[in-house]
Amino acid sequence: MLVPVLLSGGVGSRLWPVSRELHPKQLLPLAGDFSMLQDTLARTAGLDAADPVVVCNDDHRFMVAEQLRQINIEPAALILEPAGRNTAPAVALAALQLLKQDAQALMLVLPADHLIQDVEAFTAAVAKALPLAESGRLMTFGVVPTQPETGYGYIQCGAREAEAVFDLKRFVEKPDAETAQSYLDAGDYLWNSGMFLMRAATYLEQLRQHAPAMLEACEAAMAGASRDLDFVRPEVAAFSACPSDSIDYAVMEKTDLGAVVSLDCGWSDIGAWSALWEVAQRDASGNASSGDVLLDNCRNSYFRSESRLVAATGVSDLVVVETADAVLVADRNQVQDVKRLVNALNEQG
Ligand code: GDD
Ligand code: MG
Repeated sequence: MLVPVLLSGGVGSRLWPVSRELHPKQLLPLAGDFSMLQDTLARTAGLDAADPVVVCNDDHRFMVAEQLRQINIEPAALILEPAGRNTAPAVALAALQLLKQDAQALMLVLPADHLIQDVEAFTAAVAKALPLAESGRLMTFGVVPTQPETGYGYIQCGAREAEAVFDLKRFVEKPDAETAQSYLDAGDYLWNSGMFLMRAATYLEQLRQHAPAMLEACEAAMAGASRDLDFVRPEVAAFSACPSDSIDYAVMEKTDLGAVVSLDCGWSDIGAWSALWEVAQRDASGNASSGDVLLDNCRNSYFRSESRLVAATGVSDLVVVETADAVLVADRNQVQDVKRLVNALNEQG
């Protein structure tokens, strides 16, 4: 049984002021009529997959349940984290839930904040990864890198195992800029897309080896879990005691079982406003705008208005995002720093 496991626990602070703690980016219709969570779920329709499991923060339960209902998806479970412990424990909770019913369960782990343009290529890559995952490999999906991005994991391809499938020689999560550039120069590295396909049992076995305290905490949390309709609540004290780490650092950097399928599907991680500018339709001057926006002699900028007219003249390479209670103005090439602004705002209280 192949089960989509949706990770929907992030906050998306670099997409402030639209993305907020109570309305995180993956639950917002940022790049179309549906949220990225809904788009991600819709993409699994082409797979021969069982009902999905969604792992999210307890605060978002009603929003997530409502969004699933809107697109007629009946989840196998909505696992509610009392507080985020990053992705490795989130995947462990899903694995433990699935193993209650199916010792052979295969998890297709999908972050809820990606855009994919070519869904057929995505479906084909999953099909290619499936037999290897069944045989006990941890499958990753690698994207050909176009710049020395420091926000991604990098996968060094080893021996070719099948068409577009390679042994995973090395996994490096978020290298510094110099190292990332050396990977691009070397030519045999791919970006980790953040999607994984593996048996639930294989994953837990890997945690036992590489992060035993995490596995123990997640096992205790699920042993004491309560269920109310679709909502599954891990036991709070046990899960709160769980170490926090990403699947990339906790498992992928350490495992010997990795393999990679190369993926060319118009993949994009919507991490910051510049990513939305890149994927949006742009006018002849390179501007992307949404909402009530009036432009004169502007270039290569992103404008988003939610409640008032935004008018601009003579500017280039800007991001302007207007909401009812805050306006962001940023250099389009430095939008990663919005996170710093949000941290400063949080400190001010
Ligand atoms: N349920 C749950 N709980 N989900 C979480 C949590 C958590 O505590 N933390 C993060 N997530 C979700 C996010 O909402 C997102 O959908 C996904 O897990 C990945 O987390 P990010 O925080 O966005 O990770 P990243 O972008 O820094 O890095 C990962 O993705 C890159 C590609 O986008 C890594 O896998 C990198 O190696 C990869 O290149
Ligand atoms: Mg991300």
